[in-house]
Amino acid sequence: MATTTVIDRYGVMGHPVSHSRSPVIHRLFALQTGQKMQYELLHVAPDNLETAVRQFQRTGGKGLNITVPHKRAVINLVDLISERASTAGAVNTLVFRGSEIHGDNTDGIGLLRDLDVNLDVALEGSNILILGAGGATRGIVGPLLEMQPRSLCIANRTVDKAEVIAANFERYGPISACRFDAVPVDEPYDLVINATSAGLQGETPPYPEEAISGETFCYDLSYGLSPTPFSTWARDHGAARSVMGWGMLVEQAAESFEIWRGVRPDTVPVLKQMQINA
Ligand code: ATR
Repeated sequence: MATTTVIDRYGVMGHPVSHSRSPVIHRLFALQTGQKMQYELLHVAPDNLETAVRQFQRTGGKGLNITVPHKRAVINLVDLISERASTAGAVNTLVFRGSEIHGDNTDGIGLLRDLDVNLDVALEGSNILILGAGGATRGIVGPLLEMQPRSLCIANRTVDKAEVIAANFERYGPISACRFDAVPVDEPYDLVINATSAGLQGETPPYPEEAISGETFCYDLSYGLSPTPFSTWARDHGAARSVMGWGMLVEQAAESFEIWRGVRPDTVPVLKQMQINA
């Protein structure tokens, strides 16, 4: 009698999604840890999100990554949400448990692991500036404040959006908001994070030059085959180091993989491979 092996299915849903490196990363993790699973790229328009998620679940899917622009909308579909996803107001990982959908967010922990473990950036007592006040910022503010920085300022083109996030998070630590042209510079910044999506359109907004010194570590949440506009801008303005977000990408994937499979992959060789192939 022929036996059929059912392989556990995972995937990433986004719009657009064709550029996503998640399938490559999860295949490398699966190979490394001997996990039998497949990981698909799923292009899903906003109108179709609920149908697509429920269909994936019905047809035996075990888990999903959720990316732009669905990270907030998908909250309406989950039965249980983790505290970190709830605080961030965004979900990037779904787990299907029986008929239930559990939502989590691994973006913040992914960034922290990259900064702390891979790049050895000290966050406790540091002065941090985040550029941008969208979904990406919401995902990282809580975990960054947990590291007890001395200050965390969010600068945004539309200052109201930065103010709303600062107000939401003020009970977690010393957070403030401002415009790009009014960034406080009484003390030098140790870390400047670009969380705007400007680079995706190839744009370099008037980022605050005065925030960069020879002590400043600059980190772009975006990553690309060639240096992103922000990473080039930061290097040109004398930053101590200027790094793109490959490490966060691999680390958030590792966290999702562990949630799904109960095994933690070694991110170092995968990160090396992604950067070599970049
Ligand atoms: P994401 O989920 O990637 O954070 P988002 O929620 O659409 O995406 O947020 C995009 C962020 O990039 C916002 O902070 C946006 O600034 P506004 O709030 O003023 O719109 C910022 N951004 C995008 N393009 C920009 C540009 N050309 N100049 C400055 N900021 C830009």
